Amino acid sequence: MNEEQRLQSSQIQSPKKTEKTTEDFAKYFQTTYQPPSLKDAKKRGKENVNVHYDFEIPENIKNLGQDKKYLIRTYGCQMNEHDTEIMAGIYEGMGFEATTVVEEADVILLNTCAIRENAENKVFGELGHLKPLKMENPNLIIGVCGCMSQEESVVNRIMQKHQFVDLIFGTHNIHRLPQLMEQAVFGKEMVMEVWSKEGDIIENLPRTRKGEIKAWVNIMYGCDKFCTYCIVPYTRGKERSRLPEDIIQEVRHLAAKGYKEVTLLGQNVNAYGKDLEGIEYGLGDLMNEIHKIDIPRVRFTTSHPRDFDDRLIEVLGQGGNLLDHIHLPVQSGSNDVLKLMNRRYTRETYLELVKKIKTAMPDATFTTDIIVGFPNETDEQFEETMSLVREVEFDSAYTFIYSQRDGTPAAKMKDNVPMEVKKERLQRLNALVNDTAAKKNAAYEGEIVEVLVEGESKKNPDVLSGYTSRNKVVNFRAPKSLIGELVQVKVTKAKTWSLDGEYIENTAEVNA
Ligand code: SAH
Ligand code: SF4
Ligand code: F3S
Repeated sequence: MNEEQRLQSSQIQSPKKTEKTTEDFAKYFQTTYQPPSLKDAKKRGKENVNVHYDFEIPENIKNLGQDKKYLIRTYGCQMNEHDTEIMAGIYEGMGFEATTVVEEADVILLNTCAIRENAENKVFGELGHLKPLKMENPNLIIGVCGCMSQEESVVNRIMQKHQFVDLIFGTHNIHRLPQLMEQAVFGKEMVMEVWSKEGDIIENLPRTRKGEIKAWVNIMYGCDKFCTYCIVPYTRGKERSRLPEDIIQEVRHLAAKGYKEVTLLGQNVNAYGKDLEGIEYGLGDLMNEIHKIDIPRVRFTTSHPRDFDDRLIEVLGQGGNLLDHIHLPVQSGSNDVLKLMNRRYTRETYLELVKKIKTAMPDATFTTDIIVGFPNETDEQFEETMSLVREVEFDSAYTFIYSQRDGTPAAKMKDNVPMEVKKERLQRLNALVNDTAAKKNAAYEGEIVEVLVEGESKKNPDVLSGYTSRNKVVNFRAPKSLIGELVQVKVTKAKTWSLDGEYIENTAEVNA
């Protein structure tokens, strides 16, 4: 299709204008044309989720990538980073080789995030940069996937302004990448396949993991919490838990391969197991099983305060490989705002939960996420957030200005808070968060901490860097052979976001 035809097709693509159906478009394009619908994505059905173990790259596509290179740019959360590892595995299964140089790539995929407007702007900016490359090399395949692809507004904008994009698919059909790539390579039209309803769980997808020390492990997909500001329940579908035995097998396998740390992933991991039919099994039970596996470090993210139950606290209290760091997003310290956000807990129950966890895990560090400038947030309500931050003394916090997401309930709320006020609140909050972080870190000076050595520090290749069990970054000088080992380090100097230390020799737990 030439540029003009594409323009025409983008003009006819709005079903409102033409009343054409998806099937009509599929016929017109003679290729997949399945656009997203946030309205459908909102539905929560009772259908059973099936688990499949039979993923295979079709024989005829296995050489599609011979002598070709792929590059995936990842935006957003750990879930997306892990999805990228799966897509990298699929590309390599089709014979593609990885590259980090855009000019070398035969396919460039943007794995996108829709959480805030600025996340989306970055992707549109990147598409702008890629356009000249595509003009120079028409055989280059440019694809957009991830959470933004699940939004109609984004797909419409791509159809209108970035018609050089060859491939759009969403978060629920990553396993269809081989077939979609085949269509994109051999077809002449844009391939679009976005499933608005979540699909089944596909177990045996290939993975090219980014490192050999730490690994992500999905334990569940989707989110049913519907916080009023958040797009994730629409872009990721309903909550679906992987079967415990599949997760345990994956962690055992990683341990056997020498991985030292796993992070269990989900948008709301505390809801793990609620959807599993016929068994009463929750995150506490799962962590209890993983506790017994011979892998030194286990983390999990993200926790929703509402579902953090006593069983989990009891299991975490055993320590061992279950690390003493809890990321517990609070979002706001005001009950009125929490209610408008549909967070389903109060300031008091949040503080009570923190206290309970601290009793079971006295050394635990707490980090959080906070949104400032939610529609109509008053000065007093913001001050309640400040006072909660002072009370809990978070070791760190991710802080955000509220960003309106089309299709969410909060997007319909009128907002009387000017942007300058929101920015000023964010600055004040950040100053408090930084002060607390610096104070918390100062307490480590002179202490000996255990660090999992991850590699050279980004700023100085002569220095090694890693995390403590409580999620503090530590920089220190030591032989490179220690990368991947757990070592003892004496903290000599505390900074706001990291600790400097001295390696204590002969403490590496080789093959721990
Ligand atoms: N599932 C995780 C959060 C994933 S999104 C949880 O519930 O904890 C990460 C963070 O982005 C959220 O905790 C929230 O603080 C922030 N966020 C989500 N939607 C947002 C929006 N519309 N505007 C600003 N920040 C938002
Ligand atoms: Fe979004 Fe709330 Fe779900 Fe987190 S729990 S992903 S903030 S809807
Ligand atoms: Fe972004 Fe989707 Fe993750 S919206 S934060 S990439 S779940």
